[in-house]
Amino acid sequence: MLTNEAIQQKVEDLLSRMTLEEKAAQMVQVPYSVVGREESLRWAELGAGSFLHVLGDDAREVQQTALHKSRLGIPVIFGIDAIHGHGLNTEAAIFPSQLATACTWDPAIAEEMGRVTAREVATDGLHWTFSPVCCLGRDSRWGRIDETFGEDPYLSGEMTYGIVRGYQGESLDAPDSILACAKHYIGYGEAVGARDAVDTQMTYRKMKEVFIPPFQRAVDAGCATFMTAYGSIDGHSFTADPKTLKTILRDEMGFDGFLVTDWNNCGSLVQQQFVAEDMQDAAVQAAEAGNDMIMSTMEYYDAAIRAVRSGKLAEGVLDEAVRHILTMKFRMNLFEQPEKKGVPGCIGCQAHRDAAYRAGKRSITLLKNNGMLPLKSVKKVAVIGQNADDIQSQYGDWTYLTHPNATDFRPPHRPYVTVKEGFEALCAERGAQCVYHVGCAVRPLPPEVIAMIEGPALKDPVAEYIRQIAMKRNTPADDIPGAVETAKDADAIILVVGDTIDQHGEYKDRGNLDLSGQQMELYRALRALNIPLTVVLVSSKPLCMGEIAETADAVIVAFNGGQYGGQAVAEAAFGCFNPSGRLPISFPAHSGQLPVYYNSLPGWHGGRYMDLPRTPVYAFGEGIGYAPFTYANLTFDPETFIATVEVTNAGDVAGEEVVQVYMHDVVASVIRPVKQLIAFTRVSLAPGETKTVTIQLKRDDFSLVNREEKRVVEPGEFELFIGHSSKNEDLLKTTFRL
Ligand code: BGC
Repeated sequence: MLTNEAIQQKVEDLLSRMTLEEKAAQMVQVPYSVVGREESLRWAELGAGSFLHVLGDDAREVQQTALHKSRLGIPVIFGIDAIHGHGLNTEAAIFPSQLATACTWDPAIAEEMGRVTAREVATDGLHWTFSPVCCLGRDSRWGRIDETFGEDPYLSGEMTYGIVRGYQGESLDAPDSILACAKHYIGYGEAVGARDAVDTQMTYRKMKEVFIPPFQRAVDAGCATFMTAYGSIDGHSFTADPKTLKTILRDEMGFDGFLVTDWNNCGSLVQQQFVAEDMQDAAVQAAEAGNDMIMSTMEYYDAAIRAVRSGKLAEGVLDEAVRHILTMKFRMNLFEQPEKKGVPGCIGCQAHRDAAYRAGKRSITLLKNNGMLPLKSVKKVAVIGQNADDIQSQYGDWTYLTHPNATDFRPPHRPYVTVKEGFEALCAERGAQCVYHVGCAVRPLPPEVIAMIEGPALKDPVAEYIRQIAMKRNTPADDIPGAVETAKDADAIILVVGDTIDQHGEYKDRGNLDLSGQQMELYRALRALNIPLTVVLVSSKPLCMGEIAETADAVIVAFNGGQYGGQAVAEAAFGCFNPSGRLPISFPAHSGQLPVYYNSLPGWHGGRYMDLPRTPVYAFGEGIGYAPFTYANLTFDPETFIATVEVTNAGDVAGEEVVQVYMHDVVASVIRPVKQLIAFTRVSLAPGETKTVTIQLKRDDFSLVNREEKRVVEPGEFELFIGHSSKNEDLLKTTFRL
């Protein structure tokens, strides 16, 4: 590996030999899947810095063109959205979504997912994944909640730290390390009304207190790249905001990698946000604000060149951006090894699939159990529901089953195990019968979608993309009586409810999180049979489950559990392992309750909507297993910042508890959340065992961001809570002064 000084010299030498055109081209990131092969090769000859959404031989051809047909032969970097495994490659190991992974509360699982993904992406010759999403998911109506690590800054930060370490490995020049990209910097999840990409409800102080921390953990882990968010703060587009992109990111957070815009952010300054007169104005604003690489705004190239020639943009601004990009290319040793080698044969190999299976099991979150689970001596299990046997819904977003503009649609590729298949296998092993019925469509296609599917291809690429997804959806006919008939003599019913890919993702925010279609009617019809009934949620996000929380016998959340998500559900239900997932996000009782995150600010008169419950149905941190845990004897020493608590497994099976630590600042110069997670740790306990858990906290855990936007610890009284979830009744409390 070259020293920093040697890299700097090489960068300056190369930069001094680049023409203005080559500098502008180096800043361009070309969407191969949109512009096509010929246009991409032309860009490679011009010296474009990076390409996205291209795999295998197509990528190799682009690289060879850049190396041998561009004047300076600067290698290109390939980026891809490998966000829960290298899912755009059909053969890859597919992990649970980020939200499902966050249910593990286990940064080591995130790290393993990152490592496996990196090895597979690198084996495809690619260098960079646009992951992780460090935005907080505080309003589940947002279409991209599944891509977040949930609602909490601390949990999200710890999972971020793990996954970035996993992607980047020991060193960026290793054959199986790839660049991570913390996105979408910043506030993407905090858009008003959960409306994808619009203005955020944020000030710089709030940004620093609540939203920066997970991104800061990305920097701490050495994250090589960041991606700018689509949104805006107080009317200023993030794409054109030097305070966010330079002062805060580089000077205060210490980021030293390169910053890429999101898709056509630069063009959006003209086309959607109306803060730039024309593309030249947009290019000037985006470059001056500190964006180093411009994703999918091809007009940037000409516009930037014209802007420099006409004196509207200093060439030095381009130099600085190109410096950041070239530095990373040298750090990756691309000039010697332009193509990542990865680990030949590793894509979808057994070891990688085992890792996806481990993550799937760890993410299973049991929320209710009146004793129905684990299933014992059952003779007939009825598995009901479309999502019990729909691999596209199980995988969720960003796989080859959802992204026709990244790869062609392919039929589902084995191995994978749906919930239905998981139960079939385990029932067979136990000599029990397993029957299945689809019950009803998760989302019957509305008439306008049917008309669209039957109509001609659409000109607008986004509309056509949505049309294609709708065309590929498997939408069964409703048959609730058939499901009742199938289940009527079973001794356990497993009803799987959820959402489909056309109900989440970019451009797909929901206003109503109620179970769609006839799913609630299906539940009621099955419940009326009076047979023990478990409801499983295979979905991208928390949904409003109505009376299910009250009247079902057991509730399991699986979210999008990856290729073995279905097997994990069945194994958890049969008690093959003791589930230990905990919610990284609150479950609203009603869509009108949103946002409903636990760490809210106090002061709401009445503390509730007069016509809705006060609390969510399931709170942040909740999750049970087959053994209850009890807590006693909390101590905290404000001199050493050491907290201790005794945790007992009061059940008769071994289990893992996630010990959660929250704090509350009693009086402060700014309004503080009612409670804030500051630490957690996992502890394994044998039946009846008690362990004293010791947690080392830091003074900074009690800090706030003051009105001057500085992070400080203010002296005074604090409350410390330790226990099983964010709910008051699950927590022990002590108070102390700093
Ligand atoms: C998304 C990003 C993604 C990029 C490239 C954008 O539409 O917002 O998250 O990385 O496309 O696919």
